[in-house]
Amino acid sequence: MPYSTLLTSLENGIFIITINRPDKLNALNQQVMNDLNEVMNEVYNNAEIKSVIITGSGQKSFVAGADISEFIGSSIEQGKALAKKGQDIFFKIEHSPKPVVACVNGFALGGGCELAMSCHFRIASDNAKFGQPEVNLGLIPGYGGTQRLTQLIGKGRSLELLMSANMIDAATALQYGLVNYVVPQEELLNKAKTILTTINSKAPLAVAGCITAANAVFNENGFDIEVTEFGKCFGTDDMKEGTAAFIEKRKANFKGK
Ligand code: COA
Repeated sequence: MPYSTLLTSLENGIFIITINRPDKLNALNQQVMNDLNEVMNEVYNNAEIKSVIITGSGQKSFVAGADISEFIGSSIEQGKALAKKGQDIFFKIEHSPKPVVACVNGFALGGGCELAMSCHFRIASDNAKFGQPEVNLGLIPGYGGTQRLTQLIGKGRSLELLMSANMIDAATALQYGLVNYVVPQEELLNKAKTILTTINSKAPLAVAGCITAANAVFNENGFDIEVTEFGKCFGTDDMKEGTAAFIEKRKANFKGK
């Protein structure tokens, strides 16, 4: 099925989804989010698909975040709706009965880091960079980032990244357990394909059961809190200033209100 913002291919049961907006570093606009929702329906329903790789086009960026230009002028309620929609799509990835691996081929920032974290595990190229820079914009993560980053790397490291907007490199992500492997860019897809070929040889229902059980360890109440907090940001002057400053390519001047 053709998608306007995604490239897809299927080989030996491994379905590769490539987010394809290289001129915007593969930022997640609403069209990409709608396409991701649709492509996950295809993953669930197409029996020929045994497992999935999600990656970004080009060699610079996996996904550089949600598309900031779409945030401008939104209300608190619209902010909440954005977060809820994003969370629902990423839940569909996390709860896929077929394994989904993120091949992080460059920047995984904001919604890009959140997308990678919604996958069942992550492999990074050695130029990858991870971060949740939303506080630079007067925002917090809204697509599950406050919950999954804390689940994956622990509260202290997570809060340091969330509050500072600092990026970490691939070697640090490996040390934190955010990624399973770091490999040269040209080996990234092959590394994932090798692991998925092994998984594809196992009992599919048991593989699905592993995913269901591992997901059940997480308390999902935190996601509701995230929706509320993300929405509240849209009522602040600082969010308007932060998003405007990004678009105008200048430093933001935050006032704390
Ligand atoms: N939303 C919208 N557009 C984005 C984007 C995003 N999250 N990230 C990058 N882009 C766009 C840039 O605006 C630019 O578009 P233009 O050529 O039309 O001006 C293009 O992608 C290339 O990005 P640029 O900033 O020129 O590349 P760079 O190499 O100088 O910097 C980053 C790369 C990733 C450090 C920088 O793009 C960045 O900070 N992006 C935003 C990251 C972020 O805050 N994500 C969280 C969003 S909630």
